[in-house]
Amino acid sequence: MTTFNLRVNGKPHAVDTDPDTPLLYVLRNDLQMNGAKFGCGLGQCGACTVMLDDAAVMSCLVPVSLVGTRAVRTVEGLGTADAPGVLQRAFIEEQAAQCGYCIAGMIMRATELVEHTAAPTDDQIREHMMPNLCRCGTHMRILRAVRRAADAMHAGPGAKA
Ligand code: FES
Ligand code: FES
Repeated sequence: MTTFNLRVNGKPHAVDTDPDTPLLYVLRNDLQMNGAKFGCGLGQCGACTVMLDDAAVMSCLVPVSLVGTRAVRTVEGLGTADAPGVLQRAFIEEQAAQCGYCIAGMIMRATELVEHTAAPTDDQIREHMMPNLCRCGTHMRILRAVRRAADAMHAGPGAKA
């Protein structure tokens, strides 16, 4: 066991665990942040996607020992049920979730896009979201939700999503 000092959604957390433990397991089992999901455990579905600094990563593939001082961001840090973030609101308004299992990962993947690209084209959105799979097949609604959020952010802070 080793102690790792993580910063998750702006807050420090000390976790005692094996260095090879995937970040996903630390988030879910040690920190009770259950937004990121275990889908395949193989880097093939994206259900576990979180942000490490400014990059979306599949947290099932990231050993906690490799996180270091990078900031971890999860869907829990984007907003609350009462005050959802722009992406969360767009996903709700487009009714993008069916079972919901993929949605936290989708939103974190989309976070990377909207933070790097002010006005993404539909093709850029489609390409960026490609690593993340939805077994319910709501991909078209998900793409519309990302479009809606990107447009709202591009329109400025006073815009409504
Ligand atoms: S659970 Fe990580 S990519 Fe599927
Ligand atoms: S909404 Fe069910 S897996 Fe995407």
